[in-house]
Amino acid sequence: MRLSNQTISQLPKEVVVPTYDRSNLKTKIVHLGFGAFHRAHQAVFADILATEYNSDWGYCEVNLIGGEKQIEDLKAQDFLFSVCEMSYDNWRTRVVGVAKEALHADVDGITKILAVMTRPEIAIVSITVTEKGYCYLPASASIDTNNLLIKHDIENPTQPKTVPGVIVEALRLRKEMGLKPFTVMSCDNMPENGHVTRNVVLALAKQRDPSLADWIDQNVTFPSTMVDRIVPAVTPETMQKIQKQLGGIEDPAGVAGEPFKQWVIEDNFVAGRPEWQKAGAELVNDVLPYEEMKLRMLNGSHSFFAYLGYLAGYLHIDECMQDPNYVKAARHLMLQEQATTLRVKGVDLQVYADTLLERYRNTGLKHRTWQIAMDGTLKLPQRMLDSIRFHLANQTSFDCLALGVAAWMRYVSGKDDAGNTIDISDPAVDKLTALVLASQDNQERVTALLSLNHVFGEDLSHNQYFIDKVTKAYLSLRDIGAKKTVARLCQSL
Ligand SMILES: NC(=O)c1ccc[n+]([C@@H]2O[C@H](COP(=O)([O-])OP(=O)(O)OC[C@H]3O[C@@H](n4cnc5c(N)ncnc54)[C@H](O)[C@@H]3O)[C@@H](O)[C@H]2O)c1
Repeated sequence: MRLSNQTISQLPKEVVVPTYDRSNLKTKIVHLGFGAFHRAHQAVFADILATEYNSDWGYCEVNLIGGEKQIEDLKAQDFLFSVCEMSYDNWRTRVVGVAKEALHADVDGITKILAVMTRPEIAIVSITVTEKGYCYLPASASIDTNNLLIKHDIENPTQPKTVPGVIVEALRLRKEMGLKPFTVMSCDNMPENGHVTRNVVLALAKQRDPSLADWIDQNVTFPSTMVDRIVPAVTPETMQKIQKQLGGIEDPAGVAGEPFKQWVIEDNFVAGRPEWQKAGAELVNDVLPYEEMKLRMLNGSHSFFAYLGYLAGYLHIDECMQDPNYVKAARHLMLQEQATTLRVKGVDLQVYADTLLERYRNTGLKHRTWQIAMDGTLKLPQRMLDSIRFHLANQTSFDCLALGVAAWMRYVSGKDDAGNTIDISDPAVDKLTALVLASQDNQERVTALLSLNHVFGEDLSHNQYFIDKVTKAYLSLRDIGAKKTVARLCQSL
C-alpha cells in the first residue's frame, strides 16, 4: 500500500499529517529540482506555514534533467511525501502536503512547464538543481558558453533544456503577455547564489535579445539564500526505515534528514513571498556573510572529510568523527583557516563549529563521503580556494586547506588507500581522467590538475607557495595514506 489521500488516515498517530485544507492552496511557486533537499527544506517551511498560519502558498514541482521517477512517484501519491527527521535512533515523521502539481520536462514536455511558469499568479521560481545545473564557470561565476546544453538553448530558445534557458523563455513569454515577472530564488550551495543565477540568466537573455535582458535586469530580482539541513541521498535502508515510520505504507518519494534546519533569505521579492520568517527563516538585507560562513565552515569541512575520509575507507561522515585526528584537523580547519576569513557579525563561530561537529556525529544520518565528494571541480572554489586566496594575501597558514585540495587530487587520481578504484562523479570527469592518465603519480599530477583554470584560476595555478604546499601534502597522501597524513598534520597543529 502506498501513501496517498486514501491511505493517509491509516498512518500511525505519531506521524504529523497536513491538517489544513489542501484544496485551498494555490500554485504560486514553481520549484525546479524536486530532489531530496528541497523536500526536506523549503517544502517543510511551506508545510509549517500552511499548518500553523493558514498560508495558501503551494508548489508546482518540476524536474528538468534527471529525477523522472521522483516526479512520477509524486503524481502517483496525490503529491504527498514524507520527511523524516533522524536524530541517532530517534525518528520523527511529517507528511508534507504543499505540492499541488508535478511535471517533468522529458515526460510532460517543456511547453507544459512554461505554461505553468507563465500563469499570472506564479510569484516565485525557486531552484535546487546542484551546482552543475547553472551551467556556469565557478572561477568567474559567468555562463559556460561551451556547455553543450547551453549551446542547445541558444539555438533552440523556445524549447530550452537548462535552468537558465527555461527561466529566460518563461520571462520572455511573461513580458510578451504583459504579465509581471516572478522572483528567481536559488537555494543551491554557491556563494552569492542569487548573483550567479542572475549572471547566467542575463547572459543567456542577452544572446537572444538585449532588450529582453534589459527588461529582466530592471524587473526581476534574484535574492541570494543560505540554506542548511543535511539531507543524505536516500538509500534502500533509509527507504525501509521510512516505511516502518509510516506503519508499513510505502513512500518512494520520502526523504530523511537531520532535525536541524536553517534558511537565511535576502528579502528582495518582486511579486510577494510566503511569511517564511514565521516558520523560522531569517529575512535579511545581505546574505553573503552567512553564505560564506556556511560554505567555508560546513561545506568546507564536509569536503575535507569527504576526500580524506573516502581515501581512508570511512564511508560516512559519522565514521570520520570516530577518528580523533580527523576531528581535531576539521576543527582547526573551521576555526583557524575558515572562520578567520569571514566577515559575518554576531555569530559565535566557536559555538557554530562545535554545533557542526555535533551534527556530524549523528549516526542516524549515514551521510556518504562519496556523495559529498561528487562534483569537486564545482565545489572546491567556494569551499576551500577562496579561503586559500585570503591566506596567501595575508601570509597566514592554511595547512588543512592545502591537505583538503591535495586529498581531492588524490581522490580524482582514482584509487583509495586500499587500492580500490574510485567511481568519480564530476561534470569534468573526462578532463580529469585525461589529466590523470597523462601525468605521473608525483608532483607532475599536482601540476596537471592545477592546469584546470576554471577551478583554480590563473592566480593559484601559478602560485609557487601554494603549489609547494599542495604537492607536499599530495606526496604524503601517496606515501603514507590519508589516516597517517592527518595524524601527522595534527601533531603540528
Ligand atoms: N542534500 C543536502 O544536504 C543539501 C544541503 C544544502 C544544500 N543543498 C543544495 O541542494 C542541491 C540538491 O541536493 P539534493 O540533495 O536535492 O540532490 P538530489 O540529487 O536529490 O537532487 C538533485 C536535483 O537536481 C536536478 N538536477 C540535477 N542536475 C541537473 C541539471 N544539470 N539541470 C537541471 N536539474 C538538474 C535533479 O533533477 C534533482 O531534482 C545541492 O547540490 C546543494 O546545492 C543540499
